[in-house]
Amino acid sequence: MMGPFMTSQHYKLTLFQQTNGTESKGLKWKQMMRMLKVVLHLLIHLLTFLPAALPLSRDQFPPNFVFGASTSAYQVEGAAYEDGRKPSIWDTFAHAGNGNMFIGDGDVASDQYHKYKEDVQLMANMGLEAYRFSISWSRLIPDGIGKVNPKGLQYYNNLINELISHGIQPHVTLFHWDLPQTLEDEYGGWVSRRSVKDFTTYADVCFKEFGDRVKYWTTMNEPNAYATLGYDTGTFPPQRCSPSFIANCSRGNSSTEPYLVAHYMLLAHASTVRLYRKKYQSMQHGFIGFNLLPLGFLPKTNTSEDVTATMRSYDFFIGWFMKPFTFGDYPDIMKKNVGSRLPSFTQKESNLVKGSIDFIGINFYYSYYVRDSIGNLQSEDRDFWTDAGVEIERLESTDDEIPITPGILQGLLHFMKNAYGNIPIYIHENGQQTPHNSSLDDWPRIKYLHEYIGSLVDGIRSGLNIKGYFVWSFVDAFEILNGYESSFGLYYVDLNDPSLRRQPKLSAKWYSDFLKRKPMDPMISKEIEKNAPVLSRIM
Ligand SMILES: *[C@@H]1O[C@H](CO)[C@@H](O)[C@H](O)[C@H]1NC(C)=O
Ligand SMILES: *[C@@H]1O[C@H](CO)[C@@H](O)[C@H](O)[C@H]1NC(C)=O
Ligand SMILES: *[C@@H]1O[C@H](CO)[C@@H](O)[C@H](O)[C@H]1NC(C)=O
Ligand SMILES: *[C@@H]1O[C@H](CO)[C@@H](O)[C@H](O)[C@H]1NC(C)=O
Repeated sequence: MMGPFMTSQHYKLTLFQQTNGTESKGLKWKQMMRMLKVVLHLLIHLLTFLPAALPLSRDQFPPNFVFGASTSAYQVEGAAYEDGRKPSIWDTFAHAGNGNMFIGDGDVASDQYHKYKEDVQLMANMGLEAYRFSISWSRLIPDGIGKVNPKGLQYYNNLINELISHGIQPHVTLFHWDLPQTLEDEYGGWVSRRSVKDFTTYADVCFKEFGDRVKYWTTMNEPNAYATLGYDTGTFPPQRCSPSFIANCSRGNSSTEPYLVAHYMLLAHASTVRLYRKKYQSMQHGFIGFNLLPLGFLPKTNTSEDVTATMRSYDFFIGWFMKPFTFGDYPDIMKKNVGSRLPSFTQKESNLVKGSIDFIGINFYYSYYVRDSIGNLQSEDRDFWTDAGVEIERLESTDDEIPITPGILQGLLHFMKNAYGNIPIYIHENGQQTPHNSSLDDWPRIKYLHEYIGSLVDGIRSGLNIKGYFVWSFVDAFEILNGYESSFGLYYVDLNDPSLRRQPKLSAKWYSDFLKRKPMDPMISKEIEKNAPVLSRIM
């Protein structure tokens, strides 16, 4: 998963309140009243929305809706130095100590490069309908441009064939942040317009080699997060930012580069889509789209300033890409606030970008409170967030779990539908983190998935054009927020075992039962029921 926007403050989530035996009578009475209220609330909920309250089942979704799980190349493949693969900017970053934020690297990761057969077998056993993975550009074309690596080609052909032969749809991401280091060294990667042509050439190889079997292509993963984290705060590779910024960047410009990088990523996407549509789509009958990390934004207070600031945050963080796709240009507020630092589209580019997505992929994890800080527009050091005139503060839970806010996701998807049209949506990533070595009975993950998948039923019923849902992640992976300390996997990877043995977590069993339309394990449904009142539609 991605998206650590480090501004973190404690938001007290009163979700899983524990009863404590030594509490006074008064407290107990209060608690009983509260429970009664919750029960009444649930009853009303049941009476008003009876169909939605049916036990969650695969049959509540259209048959062509697809359920899968996700990973990305650098986070699971390992084999970083094998068979001709050359480093990407993530190898470089991890080996230089991950910006002192956490330890670990993707040298071995979950070793999917060697264990893909076993992994696909596990997917098949659990009834997974689709697998979303990414291609390591520097495994396929080690220098980013030029010679294709036959071993890399072979690996992805093997993986795709293995998936297809088990009836699992491959959904492929072309760029999941791991730019070939050679291109970064040669011309600065995405800060240069040369990246547009090189990316298109790389994509051409992928369509030509894999497009007969791959029907779902995503050009970019979370470019909004990539551009802000890599070039504004400088937290993540390629660690570029202005000298005065938080991270100790040796180069960069936080006032200009995030916009430049996003611009070239949009152009690279558009150029790739033109290629796909002209040369491949009529033959291969696939779909090509884009992916974004929307953060849920909530006004910190009800003042009109904070409410307007919340809308501005959406314009900046999502409209930045969605507005060009829908209307061929950036949002007016961005043009106004960023001024000449925001690149502009020529008429030709605008036409190319407009309408260049068959679908939009959404990765959803965290939500943020937004506070107006329009005064920051006067400051000397301008960056993405000062240009937006907002300060954001993450909603936290009391533990390390990600707060469960399906209502915010629903609101966000409705907002996007109204603002940018009813484009088909894939939830490309969504999942819960737990400490890597915690119990295989991963209740927090089951609760999380149950709530989000349940909310999709309502979403589809209310007219959202959602086509699929992917859990992040299929197996425990090298997590780009914390290495191997906490994990999102449905399968546990035993890092102490040289063979990196996989073991299903309880969430894998839960998801499998759901996918196979089995009645839910009574123990699991009892536990979910126990948590249902507090969990139901809190936001
Ligand atoms: C960043 O670019 C802007 C616009 O070109 C320029 O005014 C500013 O001085 C640059 N900042 C740094 C830190 O180089
Ligand atoms: C920043 O990086 C430079 C060069 O690598 C180093 O000399 C300096 O000590 C670093 N500063 C901090 C605050 O880490
Ligand atoms: C904002 O307004 C809503 C209803 O309009 C209210 O329920 C809520 O408590 C208010 N929030 C704040 C922070 O004032
Ligand atoms: C817990 O996980 C770490 C890797 O994150 C590993 O090095 C360590 O040995 C594990 N501890 C136990 C008790 O399994």
